[in-house]
Amino acid sequence: MEEYDQLLVLRNAVHVRRGLAGQLATGIGSGFGSRARSGAASGAATGAGTLAGAVDSGQRALLEASVARVAPRAAELVAWFYTRLFATRPYLRGLFPADMADQHDRLLAALLGLVADCDRPDILGPRLTRLGRDHRKYGVRTAHYAGVGETLIAALAHFSGTGWDAATEAAWLRLYTYAMTVMTEAADSADDEPPYWYATVVAHELRRPDLAVLGLRPAAPYRYTAGQYTTVESSRLARLWKPYSLATRPGAGNLLELHVRALEPGGLSEVLVHRTAVGDTLRLGPPLGDLTLPADPRAKLLLVAGGTGLAPIKALLQEAIRTPGITVIRLLLAGRDRDDLYDLDALGDLAARHRHVDIRPVVDGEPDALLDQVPDLAGHEIYVAGPPEMTRAVLTRLAELDVPPGQVHHDPYY
Ligand code: HEM
Repeated sequence: MEEYDQLLVLRNAVHVRRGLAGQLATGIGSGFGSRARSGAASGAATGAGTLAGAVDSGQRALLEASVARVAPRAAELVAWFYTRLFATRPYLRGLFPADMADQHDRLLAALLGLVADCDRPDILGPRLTRLGRDHRKYGVRTAHYAGVGETLIAALAHFSGTGWDAATEAAWLRLYTYAMTVMTEAADSADDEPPYWYATVVAHELRRPDLAVLGLRPAAPYRYTAGQYTTVESSRLARLWKPYSLATRPGAGNLLELHVRALEPGGLSEVLVHRTAVGDTLRLGPPLGDLTLPADPRAKLLLVAGGTGLAPIKALLQEAIRTPGITVIRLLLAGRDRDDLYDLDALGDLAARHRHVDIRPVVDGEPDALLDQVPDLAGHEIYVAGPPEMTRAVLTRLAELDVPPGQVHHDPYY
């Protein structure tokens, strides 16, 4: 059944690829396509690769003014957008989670958020490329973009009143068409990998009353880089995807490890900690994130972890052990008490087997005093992942100590 699902998805992807070139050349959809042609003809027709930039500086000013105008009524705008989207295109409702209370504004927030870097294709391009590839897991197809774009423009026009004019509309069309072009091209070129991976839970250990370490075996090879994260969905909360860092280094027998703390009742973390067992199947999105080792890392590595921030740090630690040229690896493991250090046994084993690995549990200390454990920070490649207050304190301290930013890497959620 699962294989059959994946075959269907692949077949759909082939249809999309065949249709894409023609659709982009003629404009996607009816209403939005014709408007897109006037607003961003060159971008849509030639593809993202040749777009000089998403928008010019004049259009940036128009877009910023437009977002500022609708911002005070953002909640109403979100509700209006989804009501209209699902009323005009009911088939799109099935792509979103049943309960959208938690994150129903993410898509719209992302669309409005495009404005922040709208004239920086160097920033926006890679971000949209990742998003486009990742959106395949939601079941999003090229043909869906026109409806979302049209509804976005309609919502903005509705909430802008007399502040809406042809130039503002043209700027939004250009930006959306740029984003759509990059995302659909990225989805198309990811055609040779699955949109998502089924993974079987092969281990589930409750290490604390609210924290579990899960072992997962993907049905197909899952290629990622140590330090990256995945997104996870459980059929118990269908279509609700949440990010979790991978605690294993690639190549560990296609076996993945996740560290999950149940934060609030009813969320995916609670499902993974308390309502998931060995034998269950989860879905994983493509790997994401840049918290990875540089191609040519410094000889000394300092890893600072707190809470489940240990997951990406543990993957980096294992990768670093096998990386020639890294001669010193220090891990500072922060916790409120001994119970917080839920993975100390596994880490102790690693340290025992590798003499250049030094692991220091730090319980009960102030986060900004953590770095006092290291006599000299010079020349270290430094990675920090953990609760926001810990990460903030450590990054502040590193800045006070004049550690160059290029040496410091931190958790994507911070
Ligand atoms: C330029 C176009 C778009 C942008 C910039 C965009 C961006 C985003 C972002 C940032 C998220 C948050 C989660 C994540 O990082 O994956 C998201 C979620 C989502 N998007 Fe998109 N998206 C676009 C187009 C679309 C289209 C055309 C659809 C089709 C209906 C779609 C469906 C979804 C769904 C189902 C979710 C997950 C549910 C949710 O978090 O609310 N997106 N999108």
